[in-house]
Amino acid sequence: MFESVREGKTGPSANILAYLRKDNNRFVASKELSESLNITCQHVYDSIAYLRRCGYNIEISRGDGYKLISSPDMLLPVEIAANLACRKFAERIFSYKTIGSTNMVAQNLARSGMPEGTLVIADTQTKGRGRLGRKWHSPPGKGLYFSLILRPELPPEKMAGLSLVAGLAIVRAISQATGIKTQTKWPNDVLFKSKKLAGILVELAAEVGKIDYMVVGCGINVNHLRKDFPLSLQRKSTSLKIIGKKEYSRIVLLQYILREFEKLYDNYRGHGFKYLSVEIIQNSALIDKRITLTIGKEKITGKAVGIDNSGHIIIKNKKGLMTYPAGEVTLR
Ligand code: BTN
Repeated sequence: MFESVREGKTGPSANILAYLRKDNNRFVASKELSESLNITCQHVYDSIAYLRRCGYNIEISRGDGYKLISSPDMLLPVEIAANLACRKFAERIFSYKTIGSTNMVAQNLARSGMPEGTLVIADTQTKGRGRLGRKWHSPPGKGLYFSLILRPELPPEKMAGLSLVAGLAIVRAISQATGIKTQTKWPNDVLFKSKKLAGILVELAAEVGKIDYMVVGCGINVNHLRKDFPLSLQRKSTSLKIIGKKEYSRIVLLQYILREFEKLYDNYRGHGFKYLSVEIIQNSALIDKRITLTIGKEKITGKAVGIDNSGHIIIKNKKGLMTYPAGEVTLR
């Protein structure tokens, strides 16, 4: 197991790494690092030791200083933190090589008092959880599997649309990082041409009408090949690599998602869907389509015509207009 915690927003390790990466990985003297980054030589020494423990191959020459030879292919806090444009999200990062479920760990951390914005991420999950008791297949080195702890001081019903907001953040981020246009599928999926690219699982704990914590878990198929999906999912799922025919950096995509989600979360927490509904509708795979909504044993068929201010879907059929807070949608 690999576990690491980010040392602070602009921890010296992230800055040192960025510096060593500049200028084609030349040898950089300790004095140059300390003067350019405004840190002590002891900080330089400690950070280099930390980076080497994380798996960075850094050559040390007594006379010349430090040279970065190679970086590990891992979702390390120091990589995630480098130039991250967030205020609160990912201020603390717990990164694992292998874990049961990031949602499960995030819930335990939330119960132990970890603050809003804490990020839990893993390279692979052995018990990745999906909605409705399903599994989330999480092969190593392929996808993004992460959970964020949020603590909005609001009643749960004010946050009912949060998975849709997270979906919109993923749609925006994928477009910015890759140019690929995706859509949200109410209430918690991201699709590309009707195939599933990402799923969101929101779990929350509340007391006397006020949220204690929420955990927003996101699973995104980034560099999966068709054979990386179980047979049963191969026709229904896709990945950015299958769509764009190339590998994408998971770290870069994650940074875009964190930035967009933080902005959208602040907006949603303050104003509900007031400023977001136009974009939500524009990016929806369901609006104006005939759908079947399954809620337990009940099935409702009709045209999806909108999403109301509480994040509920509005369906039009012979019975008129009806809104529903949750359910499983099939496109017809
Ligand atoms: C779904 O579409 O059913 C939701 C899938 C959510 C999967 C993510 S992966 C990271 C986080 N940890 C989990 O165990 N599940 C979520």
